[in-house]
Formats: sequence, structure tokens, C-alpha cells
Amino acid sequence: MPINHPSFGTLEPGRVIIFDTTLRDGEQSPGFSMNLNEKVRMAEALTELGVDVLEAGFAIASPGDFESVKTISETIGQRADSPVLASLARAGAQDVMAAANALKSAKRKRIHIVIATSDLHMKYKLRLEPDEVITATVESVKLARQHADDVEWSAEDATRSDFAFLARCVQAAIEAGATTINLPDTVGYAMPEDMEKMYSYIRANVPSIENVILSTHNHNDLGMGVANTLAAVRAGARQIESTINGIGERAGNASLEEIVMAIRTRPDAMPYTNNIQTTHLLRLSRLLATVTGFDVQPNKAIVGRNAFAHEAGIHQDGVLKNAATYEIMTPESVGWAKNSLVLGKHSGRAAFRDKLNTLGYKIGDNQLNDAFRRFKDLADRKKVVFDDDIVALVDDEVMRDHERIRFVSLDVTSGSKRQPHADLELEIDGVVHSGSAGGDGPVDATFKAIQAIFPHTANLVLFSIGAITEGTDAQAKTTVRLEENGKLVDGQGADTDTIVASARAYVHALNKLLVKRERTEPQALSA
Ligand code: KIV
Ligand code: ZN
Repeated sequence: MPINHPSFGTLEPGRVIIFDTTLRDGEQSPGFSMNLNEKVRMAEALTELGVDVLEAGFAIASPGDFESVKTISETIGQRADSPVLASLARAGAQDVMAAANALKSAKRKRIHIVIATSDLHMKYKLRLEPDEVITATVESVKLARQHADDVEWSAEDATRSDFAFLARCVQAAIEAGATTINLPDTVGYAMPEDMEKMYSYIRANVPSIENVILSTHNHNDLGMGVANTLAAVRAGARQIESTINGIGERAGNASLEEIVMAIRTRPDAMPYTNNIQTTHLLRLSRLLATVTGFDVQPNKAIVGRNAFAHEAGIHQDGVLKNAATYEIMTPESVGWAKNSLVLGKHSGRAAFRDKLNTLGYKIGDNQLNDAFRRFKDLADRKKVVFDDDIVALVDDEVMRDHERIRFVSLDVTSGSKRQPHADLELEIDGVVHSGSAGGDGPVDATFKAIQAIFPHTANLVLFSIGAITEGTDAQAKTTVRLEENGKLVDGQGADTDTIVASARAYVHALNKLLVKRERTEPQALSA
């Protein structure tokens, strides 16, 4: 009998549900916290990417998490094209009610319940007997079903659980009303063949298994997240949980872009379908990097700077003759485009807006005005403005829209014969403040001026500079990493002036620290 799922009806054979957890599991990784505006922007982009389920957060974890699940439900959750919006909850009434309340206004919603099933977790973390885990499962799933038709139940640390006990839990969760069953490799311990064994066992030993969608969720501690996910799909999973750029707890989650492109590139081995618009993948990856301040490594599959770069002469020769010699997918299929010359200083607002639409930005009039002003300024200073320049500029401007501290202006004097000096203006909560400082160099003077205007105890632990495009007039892209009480944040800034880019990056990092300070610590969640 085919499944009749409350959110997806009867799945076509081979159709795989894509569940994105960038805003929940991804956001749990150190330094990756996002503010409300950034989460909403990411959720919009994920909706346009075509994810089927979007885990918007863990509602009970903090007031900020609750607010973001609620806001995403009230905005994206009203759209006709809204994905199913999910909130995580542990198997307890308070958690389930927080998730239900945060998701209340979403048209399509899912409460996602998690409880650990391995001996290790039950004994040392939960301090619960196996039967108590089953009772908590049944009660929480039943409660969740009073507030949502679509309920997912996850067995935390499933891959290290006793399969006979796991099967009892799964059967109990289904009888209580769960409609999706997730078997995570929470600690990234499994090998691909373990997936085959676990899913086959559960399919053979849980009588009601045919009534639900089986899901897979894999961490990357041994670098096997994607391989395990694909193995799980071959073994019967029809929902894939993953994150953009593979961000997530510790070594991260299986990366969405790698899984989707593996399925698309190898239909012979992976004859499955999904709704992802793959040409948006690069855009999502970059948006996330801008929002979090963490770039992906250059050799990251699909979205890394070198993913389609050919250095060796013999490779370049082959690609020129026939790209298929060294490219197993086209760069365009994941959103890479030729770095085209775009607009000049005489271009008008309409052309600029048109360009932004092509690059995947939909921004309001106020943001457009700000971005257009910066574009004109850039076009005055830079001979040639490329797509990548526009992306950096708009990300820098638009994504910083709701930040408490904003860069206003900077005037620096320096050189081999004078003591570097910086005069800086920052807007803090809407009020412009000025400050000046000298330093060992222009960057040092600028950072000291920031400290003078906004005193803080964070330490600078990394400062790096790169170029967005080629040429001496290229925009600099700078990264600043700050550390405060063991917490790390990365900020990024872009400008044709390296010192201005550095100031912007520092201010971005400070804003991220403020977000961190505002959040109460999530209660212990090991996932
Ligand atoms: O890794 C994990 O087990 C999780 C669950 C909450 C699904 O993130
Ligand atoms: Zn996880």
C-alpha cells in the first residue's frame, strides 16, 4: 500500500523529500548563530531553492529561537509555495507545546520530536530506562498530533542503538501517530553498509513501517555524512535531512548541495527525484557564508571557489576541447556563471534592479536605494563592475540591514613617514558616534577607533584579506574573527578600500557577538 502522508499525499515512486535543517542543526554549530532577519532571509532563499521541509528552529531553546520559528511561520508560512515548516522538540510536553505555539500560524507545519534510543544516551544523558523512553515517545507524539497532522519522530543516536529496541520504539511512535520516522547517525559513527543493515532491519521488523516516510540524518564526524545519506536512500529512506554547506554540530551535517548533485549526476546509481532548483545552490551557499561570516573551503564540492577551476595545463587543454573531460556536471547547473561585466556608472536604478533579480535578489525599495547608492559609489571607484562585486556589495548592505552597529564613514592617514591615525563614525542603535585613534598601522588604528566608540573585551584572533575579483582595483574581502568568553564569531566586509573593508568586517563580527550575548544558552541538546 502506498503511503498517504498528511503533507505529501502519495509519493511518486522514487520521490525523495528534502528536509533542510540549516536553521536548526546548522545554526547549532559554534559561531554560526544568525539573527532573526538573517534567518528569515535564509528561509526565503531555501523556499525558492525548493526544499520540501524547512526546520526553522528549536522553539523551546531560547526566546530568540521561538521568535524566529514564529516569524517564519507568520511570513513564509502564509505563502502558497511554503515548505512544511518544522520545529524541533524533545519528548516532553513543554517542548512540544513550545513548538506547537511557535508554528501555530503556519499553513503547513510539522512538530519534530527527538529522544535518544542508544543505551549510552539513555543511561548517561537521559537517565531513563528503555520503557520510560517508550512512554515519553508515545505521550509526546500523541500530544503533538493534537496540534499538527504531520509529526516526525527521531531516534537520537539510532545507529548505535540496539536494533530490537529501536524497532519497538519506532512501532510505538507510529501507533501514537508519527508520520515520519527519522533514524539519525547523530555522532557520525556509521559506515554506508551500516545504513543498509539498520533500515533493512527496521523495515523487516516494524509491522506499521509502510505507513510512514523513513528519514535519514547524518553527521560528518568521519567525513561520511553524504555517503551514509545516499546509502540510506538506497536502503529505503525517502526523506533526506541536510544543511547548506554541510554546517552543523561538530564536523557538520551531510551537505545538501552534495547530496542533490550526486543524485542528479548519477541517476544510474541513484534513480530518485526531488524538487530542488539546483541553479540556486551556489547562491544559497554564498548567502549562508555572508550571513554567518564563514566561507566554505576553496575545494568544497559544488560550491567551493575551486570546484570548477582547472589548474593543470593538461586539464585546461582537455576542458577547452570538451568540458566533459574533467567536468562531471556543468558549473551553470549549480549556479556558477561567467563573471560577466555588468553595469557602469551611468546605469540607472531599473537596470540595477534587473541585475539584482538575475542574481537572485528580491529586495524592497529602501534596501534597493541603499544598495544602488553603494553601487554608484563603487562604479565611480572601480573601472569594471562584475557580478561578484554586486553580490558582495548587496550582501554587505542588505544583510546588515537590521544590525545594531553600522559602519558610517572612515578617514585614515598612514604612510611610511607618519603615525597611522583613524577617524571613524559608527551608528549604534540609530545614533551616530565618532571616535579617533592612532595605531601601529592603519588597520590597527581603525580597530582601536572601533574600540573607542564601542568598548568591548573581545579579542581579535584572526584577520585575513582576499580579493573578490582580479586587478588592483578589485574589492577586498576581509574576515575578522573575534573571541569573547570562549565564543567565536567571524565577520566579513567588502570594499575597494581594504581598510574600510576591514572596519566593516570588524563591525559585522561585533554585531554577531551581540546576537550571541542576547541569546540564552539552549538547554543541553546533544544533537
Ligand atoms: O543529530 C541528531 O540526532 C539530530 C536530531 C535532533 C534529529 O539532530
Ligand atoms: Zn543532527
